Amino acid sequence: MGEKLSIDSTLKCDVLVIGAGGAGLRAAAQISELRPGTKIIALTKVVSPQKSHTTTAQGGMAAVDPKDPEDRPIFHMFDTWKGSDCSADQNVIKKVCETGWEQVVWLERHGMHFSRTEEGRIAKRPFGGHMLNFGEKKSFRACYEATRTGKGIMDTVWDESLKYGVDFIGQCIATELLFEGDRCIGAIIFRYPEGKFLAILAKATIMATGGKTRMYQVSTNCRGNTGDGLVLALNAGLPLMDLEAVQFHPTGIIGPGILASEALRGEGAILRNKDEEPFMERYAPSAKDLAPRDLISRSIITEIREGRGIFNEAHNAHHVWLDLRHLPKEVHEKKIQEIESFFRRFAGVDPEKELCPVTPTAHYQMGGIPTNEFGEVQRDNQTIVPGLFACGEAAAASLHGLNRLGTNSLLELITMGKVTGQSVVDYLEDAKGPEKIPSDAGNIVFNQFSTYLNSQGKEQFSQVRDTLRNLMMEKAGIFRSEKPLTEAIETLKELKQRAMHIKIGLTSLQTNQDLWQIWELNNLITVSMVIAQGALARKESRGAHFREDYPERRNEFNYHTLVWMPEFDKVTLGKRPIDISIFESKGERYELFDYIERKY
Ligand code: FUM
Repeated sequence: MGEKLSIDSTLKCDVLVIGAGGAGLRAAAQISELRPGTKIIALTKVVSPQKSHTTTAQGGMAAVDPKDPEDRPIFHMFDTWKGSDCSADQNVIKKVCETGWEQVVWLERHGMHFSRTEEGRIAKRPFGGHMLNFGEKKSFRACYEATRTGKGIMDTVWDESLKYGVDFIGQCIATELLFEGDRCIGAIIFRYPEGKFLAILAKATIMATGGKTRMYQVSTNCRGNTGDGLVLALNAGLPLMDLEAVQFHPTGIIGPGILASEALRGEGAILRNKDEEPFMERYAPSAKDLAPRDLISRSIITEIREGRGIFNEAHNAHHVWLDLRHLPKEVHEKKIQEIESFFRRFAGVDPEKELCPVTPTAHYQMGGIPTNEFGEVQRDNQTIVPGLFACGEAAAASLHGLNRLGTNSLLELITMGKVTGQSVVDYLEDAKGPEKIPSDAGNIVFNQFSTYLNSQGKEQFSQVRDTLRNLMMEKAGIFRSEKPLTEAIETLKELKQRAMHIKIGLTSLQTNQDLWQIWELNNLITVSMVIAQGALARKESRGAHFREDYPERRNEFNYHTLVWMPEFDKVTLGKRPIDISIFESKGERYELFDYIERKY
């Protein structure tokens, strides 16, 4: 590779949105509504925003209808706090739960086709951990569009963005954030089809790059969810928060772990072990199959570990059953037919007549780039980064703490996308345009790409990738403890070295899939290191983070984990306090917003 890497051209805009999924485009729509004429450029890794991971969300978006005779936002706030195992920020919980319905109405008025009841009202279904009257009985709170709610959301926010003239750049990756002093002034991007680097100078930049669970062998995530945005933040000297909190969705279809929505259990599906026992009754006597995901995923693995799982030879993996056979014909045919088709196609079973094989699958990151409740990125607990914002799964404000309730993610990406858009508009009031590209712009990515392109190594990409996936699954997955986590950290150091020596087939920059994949793999290894370090440091069990050597929640860990890692494995740990402002306000049933016991 003799080519000298350089920046080909420069674009200027008011706002750069890195990641054109649901959160990024909801923010873009808000900016455009409030400040027409704002020049926005939105980047996506995929060919079109319609291929964003948001599109794959199935079950629904939680929101309390003010006309609901039984439900109230304070019940939703309580469920979210309890669901997080007392680790989410209550200022964010309050803001999001109180404004959720307004956003359902916004989506509906901008074209989303929510499913309707016979009476014409927006239909709602139950989801795990969402209850009425502070945990008394299940609530119907998830608004949905059949079983493709994410697609409905994407259609709506994309349409809005097109209407306002947002410029999209597809098939590109942001490779480096740009700064003028402390202020973020845009990013360097790399375009796959042309193999060219561009600098985009912006008054404000929004990180909305989504999740990252592709370092796990079994995952619901799109193949592009490789934590790129998180690594950009780390490289810029910014911290990541609560990355040890990885959500495993209990019902992935055996094999790659394709999502089989919790909506199935909301409609009455039951988990069974090899003896067809409905085992959740033993683990969560009250909530049973609608307990939160962390609890159900651990229960499934416990069943398997204790010999009550079923072995699937084709996938060389154990699973449990999801039983849908007893559901009424109408439910099969009208409400869940699309998800059932996944079972037919990917597992070869007919859910109306046969048991369906499911296994926990890495689904969501609760942590991310720390922001305050306005979507402003934090350098530390006291300082924000001027010009830099984050929302959606890439960000941690934090609504979810260490465990998220199903359907709170679509709620969060829409409400916090809107809030972030509003904050950007406020910021633009007196933000100056950046003057010029910093002299060292591009150095990080040029070094990385040169290393990959010039590698004389013999390592195979797929071997390094598969070793990573197995390692994370076994040693930093649902059950963790000190020895495996320490081993994982050592192996990650080796993998980082190996990833520098991957044999590369093509050495040109244009449409070089090898190069793109090696860059992504490096990001996955980097983010895995942050997960493992955070998990090792948190010597307790809370939400989705379960330490077998410390199986209880411990008050001395009532904080968010911050990890800085400007260079691979040069880790500094810090803490951010948990906001308990609902408890402190001493309002209605405030005692329930204390560090309460969590039982279902
Ligand atoms: O099960 C599901 O439909 C997933 C929903 C979610 O992750 O919020």
